[in-house]
Amino acid sequence: MYSVIYNSRTGFTKKYAEQFAKLSGVDCHSIDDDFPTGDVVFFGWRKGPMISGIKSVASNRIIAVCVVGLQRYDESTIDTMKKKNKLDCPLFYRMGGVDRDALPISKKIILDIFAWFFQKKDKCKDTEAMVQIIRYGGSMYSEDQLNGLIEYVRSKQSDDSFLT
Ligand SMILES: Cc1cc2nc3c(=O)[nH]c(=O)nc-3n(C[C@H](O)[C@H](O)[C@H](O)COP(=O)(O)O)c2cc1C
Repeated sequence: MYSVIYNSRTGFTKKYAEQFAKLSGVDCHSIDDDFPTGDVVFFGWRKGPMISGIKSVASNRIIAVCVVGLQRYDESTIDTMKKKNKLDCPLFYRMGGVDRDALPISKKIILDIFAWFFQKKDKCKDTEAMVQIIRYGGSMYSEDQLNGLIEYVRSKQSDDSFLT
């Protein structure tokens, strides 16, 4: 059996982690709590190519990772994230959001610079939606986005029990 461990600053990653744990019937813990030993499905928010909080768990315990960010999914970024975070397990990517009231001013400034930079570089619809969410707050959370991860972990668990 595995447990879910998450790191969340403003709640979006926590919501995905708790929902995933509920649907999978496993325990869910923040990295700030005492968490059990054994296999882990880790949820962390994206900060550039880094996955926040992932260093709190030994990488050989992590069977899958779910990263929550604002930029749209792209394969090459996922590869870079795996390398930078020294992961060789599958990495799933989900869309989060911005709760400006829960962020300190310093982080809001970082996000505003990030939005300004992307708006100049890329004029597509996805970028415009991300910029609006950064400026005014908003959510791209959707429970459906957990389906692939749920299927992957279920199939891995049934393979493992078949082998033991
Ligand atoms: C300082 C900072 C840097 C961030 N950098 C990125 C980034 O590089 N790419 C991205 O897609 N999202 C980035 N985000 C957005 C977060 O990943 C997103 O808001 C996420 O939903 C936060 O999850 P949480 O509510 O669990 O804290 C950044 C957020 C903050 C506060």
